[in-house]
Amino acid sequence: MTKKPIILGIESSCDETAVAVIKGNKDIPEILSNIVSSQVDIHKEFGGVVPELAARSHMEKIDLIAKKAIDESGVKLKDIDAVAATAGPGLIVCLSVGLSFGKAIAGSLNKPFIAVNHLEGHALSPKLNSKIEYPYLLLLISGGHTQYLSVESLGKYKRLGTTIDDALGETFDKTAKLLGIEFPGGPKIEEFAKKGDPNKFKLPKPIINKGGCNLSFAGLKTAVLRITKEIKSEKEKFDLAASFQKTIEEILNEKTKIAFKQFKQRNKTTKNTFVIAGGVAANKGIRNKLITLSKENNFETIFPDINLCSDNAAMIAMVGLEKFQLNKFDNLDFPANPRWALDENAKFLKGAGVNF
Ligand code: KG4
Ligand code: ZN
Repeated sequence: MTKKPIILGIESSCDETAVAVIKGNKDIPEILSNIVSSQVDIHKEFGGVVPELAARSHMEKIDLIAKKAIDESGVKLKDIDAVAATAGPGLIVCLSVGLSFGKAIAGSLNKPFIAVNHLEGHALSPKLNSKIEYPYLLLLISGGHTQYLSVESLGKYKRLGTTIDDALGETFDKTAKLLGIEFPGGPKIEEFAKKGDPNKFKLPKPIINKGGCNLSFAGLKTAVLRITKEIKSEKEKFDLAASFQKTIEEILNEKTKIAFKQFKQRNKTTKNTFVIAGGVAANKGIRNKLITLSKENNFETIFPDINLCSDNAAMIAMVGLEKFQLNKFDNLDFPANPRWALDENAKFLKGAGVNF
């Protein structure tokens, strides 16, 4: 086996076309290139991602982005040891672009092909900057997913909790929209929050005292909608953003305490590691709150670098690298899977009336 494998990663599950090249090392892999082309400007006027436009844009750009990533990495195509591409979950028309492209490169180079679960990419993303050993507790907070998972080894996940309605990133984006902030407004909420009074509005914390570490944000979103109809001044908008940010931090604080307990019951490790990944993990307020809580509970907190929190292909190559090292390859007929859960045995938990 190659001593330092070189992996090409490809990501196109939603609205980012991304290609990266990484090289395995003894501890932390080296990112040789990591190109992300965002489609924010295309979808802005629609207030959300339009699948057909997203797929079209992936098709237009993927070869240029791949060329740029390979050129920047300094490696020759023939030196790539395996090609890893996202196969799900995501929008099928978008997934198909990167997946077919990845299969075509692997096939033409006669190199192994690796199909990657996008969520596993987020789960392993902090391994690009920190040495992490299994098992670890993962809080995955992105635009489409919000879950606590016990990550027990590569590909082995036990879901401890999930949102029963909206994802956290989606909740941030919808709140931002109600406050008149352009899509995707999630990151701007924090800026607004800094200028406001976090105690001005009392917002609900749905299922805070039940459902273990499952989460719910729909009621919170409805409360924000109701308040936005009443507020008039710019100052009140900042107050609402601050109150929203504080409420989210408090919800995550309470639910994480439960997740810590559940993780410790399942895994008897000497070292407790807590990884927070996904787009919302870029939120500094959430980071700080969870760092403090982890210290109090004897967990070490690890985050991906800020630029690796949102969708990228380096994290897809990271999963590819671990699979490559275990000789876990896939056939070129591996299908795109828009609903590919990390824990396929976890119960479906959605909507009001869920029985915990
Ligand atoms: O992981 P990601 O890039 O895409 C998905 O796989 O979903 O996550 C994107 C989400 C968006 O909803 C975005 O608003 C949110 O992450 N996000 C943030 C912040 N930065 C990105 N939410 C709150 N605070 C931030 N600083
Ligand atoms: Zn993502």
